[in-house]
Amino acid sequence: MTKSILESVLQHKNFHKIAEQNGYSYDHVKKEGAKLWKLLSGVFAAAIEQSNVRSILQNKAGSTIYSFGDSSLIITNHKIKENYVNICKENHQVGQDKEKRSPSAPVPNEVPRMDLATAPELNYNYGRDSEIATLKSWMVNDRARLITIYGLSGVGKTALILKVISEIQREFDYIIYRSLEPLPKLVNLKDHLKHFLSESSASPLPEIIDYFRSSRCLVILDDLQHLFKPGHLAGHYLAEHKDYHNFFQQVATSSHQSCLILSSWEKSGDIETLEKENEYTKSLKIEGLGAAAKDILRQKKLADESSWDELINRYQGHPGWLNIISATILELFDGRAAHLTEREELFLGDIEAKLEFQLERLSELEKKVVYWLAIQDEAIAISQTYANLEVSQGKFWQIMQSLNRRCLVEKVAINEPAFQLNSIVKAYLAFSRFM
Ligand SMILES: Nc1ncnc2c1ncn2[C@@H]1O[C@H](COP(=O)(O)OP(=O)(O)O)[C@@H](O)[C@H]1O
Ligand SMILES: [Mg+2]
Repeated sequence: MTKSILESVLQHKNFHKIAEQNGYSYDHVKKEGAKLWKLLSGVFAAAIEQSNVRSILQNKAGSTIYSFGDSSLIITNHKIKENYVNICKENHQVGQDKEKRSPSAPVPNEVPRMDLATAPELNYNYGRDSEIATLKSWMVNDRARLITIYGLSGVGKTALILKVISEIQREFDYIIYRSLEPLPKLVNLKDHLKHFLSESSASPLPEIIDYFRSSRCLVILDDLQHLFKPGHLAGHYLAEHKDYHNFFQQVATSSHQSCLILSSWEKSGDIETLEKENEYTKSLKIEGLGAAAKDILRQKKLADESSWDELINRYQGHPGWLNIISATILELFDGRAAHLTEREELFLGDIEAKLEFQLERLSELEKKVVYWLAIQDEAIAISQTYANLEVSQGKFWQIMQSLNRRCLVEKVAINEPAFQLNSIVKAYLAFSRFM
């Protein structure tokens, strides 16, 4: 009886289901279950219950034999999944916890259950070593629960996440990718995740956070910007989707062993606050590829290698923009990159359409400030007042903060903190203004 309860709970079955499948009453299963948790709590020196038994066994067991009553629980392998758990009615002695694993040093798993079906397929994925090292360290060493990856559209957030997954997948039991385009209601998204994590259609299913406790899950929600109001300052949730923030907060502040990665064009103030209060919440701003962007130009078979540094510099190593510009160079100049870099004027071509999408999300006041920034020759000191802007000091700071959260302005330190508009955005606005 204890054996089938434990086996079934490890398979995420609830007591109703166990009773039904084994021909017992629900009350009987519940009583036996309570005895089992008490017994295991003693063996593992932890408060074990139905919701946390998987995670505690997984973290503490290693390859160990524990005896109880007339039966023994042998946990072979390091991964506690139904096919790896071996529960025998043999008379083994209580073993020592041979390989006590600290939470920061998990033993790599076998291949996890993955759903990346809706993730884009990427043929090339260069560089990003330091970003990958940072993300791995957060996930493995720091046990980060909520990670926000933010940066301009096309800068390579999704590509980075997919590369990290390919390197870190054995740390997790479940990995699922979902884009928030089209934007699902939270309740529907949770249902989708639950069905994936439960590996069954049994109902009622436990809550997401229960799965996050019992298994090591990696959930990726891409394109979070769809949750935020267009025409407002960055990162303000749409009224009908405010519940997402409560979910993110729950993931960040509850105790569990899983990780939720969010990717977005803009960072929300709520997440920023959470990050300051909660050590398990992290965020990473994604910028260009740097020298690794040369591999993109090489793969596109561009000529004039001596001009590539300048090309990468002009387009900020931004892979999306470099892909667009490379296509233009091939189309117009037979691959001669120097034709573009020899001219002082910054050519934008099809990049304009991409920028338009991002700029149309700005509030009216942000647009006003962005146009003003586009005609400044130098970075703007944040402490000064700019009378010609006709915006109060407080409002001005708020707008600059929002533009910074959208990665449209960059902070530069001269003598004091100052901001300047992204040079590609600046070129676009200067161009569109004089059309
Ligand atoms: N590290 C990289 N190496 C090569 N191409 C990349 C890299 N990162 C992104 N790209 C390419 O740039 C484009 C935009 O990347 P993507 O990850 O979709 O950006 P984001 O998710 O930030 O909008 C894609 O075509 C992708 O293949
Ligand atoms: Mg993306």
